[in-house]
Formats: sequence, C-alpha cells, structure tokens
Amino acid sequence: MKTTSLVVAGFLAGCISLVGCEQKVDVAGGVSFANDVLPILEANCVDCHDIAAEGVATSGLNLRDYDGVMQGTRVGLVVAPNSSESSALYLVIAHQTDPQIQMPKHHHDTLAEGTDPSLTENEIKTFQNWIDQGALDN
Ligand code: HEC
Repeated sequence: MKTTSLVVAGFLAGCISLVGCEQKVDVAGGVSFANDVLPILEANCVDCHDIAAEGVATSGLNLRDYDGVMQGTRVGLVVAPNSSESSALYLVIAHQTDPQIQMPKHHHDTLAEGTDPSLTENEIKTFQNWIDQGALDN
C-alpha cells in the first residue's frame, strides 16, 4: 500500500513537473534568432556559408545573418515561416533529406558527404521551433 501511494505520488509529481516544463518553454516566448539560432549557424555553418565560401559559391546560401538566411539559395527560399516541415533549412539538418545533402556536410572529396557531426537534438529543435514560431528576426 505504502509502495503504491509512493508510485502514485511520483507519477503525479512527474506529470506536474512535465506540465511545468512545457509551460516554461511556451512562456519563454520561444526562440530568438539572435540569441539561439545565430550562434548555432556561426558554430556549424558559416565556415562554408559565408560570403565567398564553398556553400555560398555552390548554392548562393549565406547563413551569416538573418537577411541571408531568409534570402535562401539561388534557386529558392530555405525557410517557410511557420512550417519547418517545408523548410529546407530544417530538413537538411534533421536527417530528413538524402544523406548527400544533409548538413553540416563534409567537404572532403574522398569522404562520403553528410558525414560531419550532426547537430544535437536540442540544436535541431531550436531551428524547428524558430521556424514554427514564424522565423522572426528577434
Ligand atoms: C563543409 C561545408 C558546409 C558546411 C559546414 C555546411 N554546409 Fe550547407 N551547403 C554546403 C554546400 C557546398 C552546399 C551546396 C549544395 C551541395 O553541394 O550539397 C550547401 C547547401 C546547403 C543548403 C541548400 C540545400 C538545398 O539544396 O536547398 C542548406 C539549406 C544548407 N546548406 C544549410 C546548412 C546549414 C544549416 C549548415 C550548418 C548546420 C550547413 N549548411 C553547413 C556546404 C556546407
């Protein structure tokens, strides 16, 4: 009996803290481009996606700032505000494309493409949330 109530209490506490967590994420007002997204781009992407770098030369995609991200590639946009599932920027990092075009990619010809370490789950989620919250310049 004692064990049962402990389990129930634990379960309830779990629920409450889970709800608390979700609320916290919502209340935090969501993801900031400048504080959350840009640092990930700077650490993982701008080596190739800065002016005159390999990724810009091939795709035209400059990920150095908000305008560049929203401008997309030579052939089109990579961010569809409110729809991460339609955004190339999200799909290429979230393992939802052909491995050849996953990002960050590897630039050495002798290695399979798409083998640079993937972003962490948290980083991928940050992109997803930012796009699904409207891809704001915030
Ligand atoms: C080692 C260099 C390199 C790194 C690092 C890199 N990219 Fe790329 N990226 C490229 C190249 C080159 C292309 C052009 C297409 C191709 O060759 O696959 C490209 C293309 C893209 C495209 C366009 C895909 C399409 O076909 O529409 C997106 C979006 C993209 N990169 C996002 C990113 C993001 C986000 C990061 C960081 C998480 C990143 N890249 C890191 C080299 C790189």
